[in-house]
Amino acid sequence: MTQLIEQKVNIPEKQAYSYDILIGRNLLENADEIIKKYTKANKLLIVTNETVAKLYMSNINIKNSVWLILEDGEEYKNIENYKLILDTAVEHKLERNDCIIAFGGGVIGDMAGFAAASYMRGCDFIQIPTTLLAQVDSSVGGKVAINHEHGKNLIGAFYQPKLVLTDISVLKTLPLRQLKTGLAEVLKYAFIEKSCACPLNYRLFDFLKQNKQEIFDLNPDIMSKLIDICCTLKASVVNQDETEKGLRAILNLGHTFAHSIENLTNYTVYTHGEAVGAGIKMAFKLALIRGLISKDYFESAMELIDDYDIAPVGFNLDKEKFYEEMFLDKKAKGGKIRFILPNSHYSVVSVSDITKEHVFESIDDFM
Ligand code: NAD
Ligand code: GLY
Repeated sequence: MTQLIEQKVNIPEKQAYSYDILIGRNLLENADEIIKKYTKANKLLIVTNETVAKLYMSNINIKNSVWLILEDGEEYKNIENYKLILDTAVEHKLERNDCIIAFGGGVIGDMAGFAAASYMRGCDFIQIPTTLLAQVDSSVGGKVAINHEHGKNLIGAFYQPKLVLTDISVLKTLPLRQLKTGLAEVLKYAFIEKSCACPLNYRLFDFLKQNKQEIFDLNPDIMSKLIDICCTLKASVVNQDETEKGLRAILNLGHTFAHSIENLTNYTVYTHGEAVGAGIKMAFKLALIRGLISKDYFESAMELIDDYDIAPVGFNLDKEKFYEEMFLDKKAKGGKIRFILPNSHYSVVSVSDITKEHVFESIDDFM
């Protein structure tokens, strides 16, 4: 284990409930020892998928654990697999102080987390995220959910883990496409950094400009730093607004557009990060049209996004349907779409009085 970074999420609303995010190399090998410090569980149920199990099951040796290996894919983040997790917990007689461990990307993390939130009204839960997206975003902050046939993440809860154990070594097997998917969320943090109201000034935007090659090469020090920055920014937001009454919505920069892209393509053509990357571009264009940002800032944002190659174009989607779909987004309120838009360098604002014409204009260049 080298260069262990310890980060904390600290939620005042919950009597200062806090948990650690440990970031380092080869942490899987010491998982048993580390995890024992965070749970008193006698039994642990490790939930993963076929891909992650094949790659890393032999790297983890946690005493008194049972494994549940699910099929790989967003389409399996459903009520049947959620039930399978609960059935396995019942079958192995897990008790309330026992622990469910999510070992995988955001799909496994969200689903195992929701099972942990509801099993015996909440058992211990630990996240071991294995994709970049999960390491910088989904494993932190407690949003857990499964999909319903009529919508993504429609059934869920806020349920915080006891620990996030982030081993950056596992990123080496991540396909480039999945790495870029995570990088879309990373760039998102660069564009919302000031609004996160984090006392530390990272200037993630500059960090990303300066370290692109190291990031794509998975330089361990740079990756640890990058994940640490993103988790600090996310923790800052979650600490201020755990249940998304206000501030937390800034984490959805680009997501309203992404929601339409993903839904209209049945979640089968683009990854979440690809849709978010394109959505961030559209949000920037909308902000430019609305006079919220300068042309210079718009161009420097486009340059960074293109440099990282995280945003596909040429969706060929019907604009009317694209617009209609936006109203079905969970973020829509009282029949109004709430857009998170950039309003100055690294800062965003929530805007709801956007016309259909402006939405069309903002998506035109990228469709
Ligand atoms: P994913 O979990 O489907 O993982 C992507 C692919 O990478 C899968 O095929 C997986 O098997 C594979 N994989 C995982 N780790 C690997 C590794 N180390 N090496 C090789 N392959 C590996 O997708 P994701 O992008 O991690 O997560 C997307 C999900 O996260 C969506 O369901 C989304 O709704 C959810 N999400 C949740 C939050 C939140 O706050 N809870 C935030 C963002 C996204
Ligand atoms: N990924 C958005 C959130 O955690 O709120």
